[in-house]
Amino acid sequence: MIGLFDSGLGGLSVARALRALLPEHDLIYLADSAHCPYGPQPAAAVRARAEACARWLVDQGARLVVVACNTATSAGVEQLRATLPVPVVGMEPGVKPAAAATRTGRVAVLATSGTIGGERFARLVERYGSGLNLRTVACPEMVQLVERGELAGPRAQAVVDGYVKPLSAEGVDTLVLGCTHFPPLRPLIAMAAPGATIVDTGPAVAAQAARLAAREGIGPGAGTLRCATTGDPRAVAAAAAHVWGAPVAMEAVRQ
Ligand code: DGL
Repeated sequence: MIGLFDSGLGGLSVARALRALLPEHDLIYLADSAHCPYGPQPAAAVRARAEACARWLVDQGARLVVVACNTATSAGVEQLRATLPVPVVGMEPGVKPAAAATRTGRVAVLATSGTIGGERFARLVERYGSGLNLRTVACPEMVQLVERGELAGPRAQAVVDGYVKPLSAEGVDTLVLGCTHFPPLRPLIAMAAPGATIVDTGPAVAAQAARLAAREGIGPGAGTLRCATTGDPRAVAAAAAHVWGAPVAMEAVRQ
């Protein structure tokens, strides 16, 4: 079984990419909805939550943990790797593929304030972003949209437009989805930035998880998806159905 967690429902975008690669593997997903959003919280608080979520997944039988959250990776992936008895896959904004894709050199990273302000991101930009005109934008209201399962409609489009249209007007031609909550809003983002290249690292992270699963001898199961939340299971299940695109049973977890 492969475990994934996020502050909420965004990590389902990574679970979806993983499901596409490994349709018969059993997945377990924990949405830490009671502590969402992670973005504005101090790194130490996010680190503590990441540890609690990852431990719960391992206790349930996960033999590999995917940190399906850029903010939690930034705050605590090293600690998880040092303390968990199973391999850990983390994720970070796709600055490297964006540098390869841009033609104007103007790139924007949409993420959380925690990711953008973290040391990991500074190192990433130093390594791959030196030749770029790089803008970073925290988009907390886009996180809220996804937590509500509001992925379409004029109100959602207006929220996305508010973040993305000014970037287009500045000549940004490549947008990095540096938060796992943003791929479900991709059609709205594309609408706000016609012609822009959109970079989502979810599929690459899923591919890395699939490689590690093979290396660890984690074989296929019945292709189940078990979902749990630290929040209100009914409300989270209702929103998750929009994000996953099908009804999702949601267990309540105290953590
Ligand atoms: N989904 C998370 C990420 O990838 C963060 C959203 C939040 O909790 O602020 O960064």
